[in-house]
Amino acid sequence: MGAIVSVLLSLVPPGGHVVATKDSYWEARMFIQNKLSLMGITATFVDMNDMDSLKEVLQNNKVSLFYADSPSNPLLNCLDIRKVSELCHSHGALVFIDSSLASPINQKPLILGADLVLHSATKYISEHHDVVGGCVSGSENLISKIRSCHYDLGSPLVPDAAYMIIRGMKTLHLRVETQNNTALKMAHLLEKHPRVAGDLQATMKFVDSLRLPYIATSFGGCESLVQQPAVMSFWDYSAAERAKIGIKDNMIRFSFGIEKFEDLAADILQALQKL
Ligand SMILES: Cc1ncc(COP(=O)(O)O)c(C=O)c1O
Repeated sequence: MGAIVSVLLSLVPPGGHVVATKDSYWEARMFIQNKLSLMGITATFVDMNDMDSLKEVLQNNKVSLFYADSPSNPLLNCLDIRKVSELCHSHGALVFIDSSLASPINQKPLILGADLVLHSATKYISEHHDVVGGCVSGSENLISKIRSCHYDLGSPLVPDAAYMIIRGMKTLHLRVETQNNTALKMAHLLEKHPRVAGDLQATMKFVDSLRLPYIATSFGGCESLVQQPAVMSFWDYSAAERAKIGIKDNMIRFSFGIEKFEDLAADILQALQKL
């Protein structure tokens, strides 16, 4: 979050305008809406890939920055980064992509035309659920502006965390490859399973019956995590609000770690049997 705030404060001038996607990181949206507004910065929130709305906002405002999480959390909606970057650049707006959900292995927004890419290093990059940190990459010109603001905010990484991140990054590609394989194989295993359905209560029972994954809201670590957004990250939304944004009562978000696929699959199948 320190990295996101540093980008916004250093690159959006007072009186500027930010466009963000409606399903970008909640804390960042709240910062844009409630804190940047105190500096006379206005914002518009658009649906992911709603190019018509984006075009309209760019035409009617002096937009400094477009900000989106892609893939989004937890629905994994993906932005056409190349198309959005071309459009934003033609109106002089910078494109800032939070790519934390993809990891730096699975998606490279700078190659697709974005100006800045952010990763919560708390997730895949450190990967051991023992560090809180973030990083932003982009041109030297932009990063030097962000760096000075980030020092002002007092949010540099502590040396211990920096050490653990550097060490963790050396095996990032191996871990993400395992996580990708597990997720794909699990999707194939479960897509036609007759018990993958049910209501809020049945889903809670399933989650409570799992023995391997921890019940937690983060993602990207060595240990598998599981969460039911309707009663966890979206617990304070009404049922109608959740339905509007596509968070179903029986939705489960797994973040697979690097345990053996067979062990994870056996655990999920035994929990399904309990329903
Ligand atoms: C997509 C995304 N971006 C940024 C963050 C902020 O990360 P941190 O906890 O490292 O501040 C989160 C946290 O969950 C996230 O999910």
